[in-house]
Amino acid sequence: MKTVVITGGTDGIGRALAHVRLDRGDHVVIVGTNRHKGESFLAEAEQKGARGRAAFISADLELIDENTRLIEDLGTRLTRLDLLVLGARYQRVRRTETADGIESNFALSYLSRFLLSHGLQGLLDRADNGVVLNFGGAGEFGAPQWDDLQQRRQYHFISAMVHAGILNALLAVDLVRRYPGSRTRYVNNFPGTVATSFAGDYHDDPLLTGQIAMLRRTAKPVAAALTEIAPFLDAPGTERITVVSEGRAIPLDPAVSLPADAARLHKYTQELLSARNEASRS
Ligand SMILES: NC(=O)c1ccc[n+]([C@@H]2O[C@H](COP(=O)([O-])OP(=O)(O)OC[C@H]3O[C@@H](n4cnc5c(N)ncnc54)[C@H](OP(=O)(O)O)[C@@H]3O)[C@@H](O)[C@H]2O)c1
Repeated sequence: MKTVVITGGTDGIGRALAHVRLDRGDHVVIVGTNRHKGESFLAEAEQKGARGRAAFISADLELIDENTRLIEDLGTRLTRLDLLVLGARYQRVRRTETADGIESNFALSYLSRFLLSHGLQGLLDRADNGVVLNFGGAGEFGAPQWDDLQQRRQYHFISAMVHAGILNALLAVDLVRRYPGSRTRYVNNFPGTVATSFAGDYHDDPLLTGQIAMLRRTAKPVAAALTEIAPFLDAPGTERITVVSEGRAIPLDPAVSLPADAARLHKYTQELLSARNEASRS
């Protein structure tokens, strides 16, 4: 029996993967903000006789303290972690900052993944073949915007998501460098356009709301996205980093694999966390 934690496990691809893993006999913890969705997942687990292997943790992963609380909670519940799936996302048409003063997409789609990847490293290393599946994208779109990492000057919700994919590729490079003795592998995945809830605040923009409604109906089925990624989870290979785009392994973009850039992003992130700690102490 493997132990699986899925952020964004209350909906979309994450929830479907949670059911696949429950059906295999794994122990599955899903994380999201919506208690109703969490409880309905537990009811579904009950129906298939798997309630004892299913858990829901409510956490708002846009917030630094909530990530810390989640890491502590998982530390008390689990003795090892075989698969960590990083799939929480929330699209906002307008640029918004969290209560920590951080651009919300950066906070959820990159910073939370940074905190969880580092904070759960010990549990991942206790597994024989720990894997982190990061749905942040395959980092195929060039270098980070170093002068505007939180998109203050120019914000668009799609470019914010793409940018998070670039940062997550550098995160994987940095994790491998920082934990050289670890066996944990990182799979960064772009699933294509998949028919999910497209969680977000689209501000009642009629054109956009119509487009999202159409994608919810007509995009690639979740089952197809799961079939595409399954081989990389079941036999993740020997490389510490695998980059997957719609079921195809692709080379890590040289623009997002420079160790110096990975270290630079790590330093920026640590400084951001230190500044926020200072601010919350004063
Ligand atoms: N669907 C696509 O076309 C597509 C394309 C490219 C990449 N991806 C990536 O694939 C992953 C899964 O996407 P999806 O489309 O399957 O997801 P989705 O259906 O949009 O669901 C988003 C998930 O994120 C959770 N979430 C939202 N805000 C949260 C917060 N503040 N704290 C904790 N959890 C939060 C939601 O849970 P609650 O509702 O319980 O809060 C939900 O489980 C994401 O990383 C996404 O960026 C998807």
